[in-house]
Parts: sequence; C-alpha cells; structure tokens
Amino acid sequence: MTASPVRLSDGRLVVRHGTSEYEIPEHCPHLGAPLDQAYLNGPFLRCAWHGATFDVRTGERLRGPACPNLPTPGPNLPTPGK
Ligand code: FES
Repeated sequence: MTASPVRLSDGRLVVRHGTSEYEIPEHCPHLGAPLDQAYLNGPFLRCAWHGATFDVRTGERLRGPACPNLPTPGPNLPTPGK
C-alpha cells in the first residue's frame, strides 16, 4: 500500500514513518516534480515523474535518474499522539 507525504498546517511537507516525521523539500532534486504527489512505501519516497527514490531517513537517492540526494533531514520529530 502506498501513501503520500502530508502537508502540515504550517505549510511544511513531511513524511510520517513509524513514530517519526521527516521534513522533505517541496520539489524533487531531479527536475522539480512536486513531492506532495510522490508515493511512499515505508521510508522510501518515489517521485511521481521519473521514479527517483529516496530514503527519507537519510535523504539518500537509492534509484532512478541521477540527481542530488534530498537535503539532510531536519529534526526527527515524534508524531503527535504517539
Ligand atoms: S522530477 Fe523527480 S525523478 Fe524526475
């Protein structure tokens, strides 16, 4: 089952994985696809345009077209209510 990143009320885009949230950028570092349309499978974020796949825990690009990693994730915040 896939999910999508979540837009918080303050505008940040985050991925929830387990009890943690990882802030991600608005756009893919490949050609700028909006990452709020990306697909999630566990901690793996797959861009909807060309399939670049990143581990949101580290920002590392795991597969797909050559492009930079995601920026180093911010603080690993516990999900409210967990
Ligand atoms: S824009 Fe994301 S993989 Fe190309």
